[in-house]
Amino acid sequence: MDHNRRIGFILKPFVFVLCLVPFAILVARVVNNDLGANPIEAMQDHFGEWGLRFILMMLAVTPLRKLTGRVWIARFRRMLGLFAFFYVAVHFIIWLWLDRELRLADIIEDIFERPFITIGMAALTLLIAMALTSTAAIRRRLGKAWQRLHNSIYLVGVLAVWHYWWQVKKDITEPLVYAIILSVLLGYRMWLRWQTSKTKQAS
Ligand code: HEM
Repeated sequence: MDHNRRIGFILKPFVFVLCLVPFAILVARVVNNDLGANPIEAMQDHFGEWGLRFILMMLAVTPLRKLTGRVWIARFRRMLGLFAFFYVAVHFIIWLWLDRELRLADIIEDIFERPFITIGMAALTLLIAMALTSTAAIRRRLGKAWQRLHNSIYLVGVLAVWHYWWQVKKDITEPLVYAIILSVLLGYRMWLRWQTSKTKQAS
């Protein structure tokens, strides 16, 4: 087993358990009746924020790999992506089930008449498509189309921050912090592309 595979193999279970910590924290808060005056909102916010954090962590994989030269970091991209999907899916299910109480008319009205929900749905739809096509076999079968679809994680990041920003009532500090982190990650990606095309032109 080569060095990168070995590190990936050893660290994967540890990172997996770490990714479940936000879920465990929420379960502990439910058990201890520690969700405050609006438990549904508290649960929804918790999962939404962690969904967004995992999307940003996924976007940070390539910059970290390039900057540190540690190739094994890339082995965690799929896991982080699937956890992003998991946390956003729970965020969505809480909205659907506990907030909208599965009332179809309310759900449709929200999706079409509250722009921040429309944007959230667009981001969720892309995440579902990525989760469904995340296996190595499907990746091989789809070829370039797979890469194009999975590049839309940047769009998911933009939609997710926009969704957060739009529903904030007064203090925009938190979505602003996420927007800055996202801009840095997108900026780095654009710089990498520019460097690659410059090298290609020169050769
Ligand atoms: C990639 C997809 C998504 C991400 C990353 C995301 C993330 C977030 C975040 C970070 C918040 C703010 C939490 C806070 O105030 O602390 C939020 C709020 C909210 N999201 Fe999402 N969301 C996504 C998709 C959706 C979808 C599909 C729906 C429903 C169709 C939805 C419904 C809501 C609602 C109703 C709130 C406001 C909750 C409240 O009243 O505090 N989100 N979301």
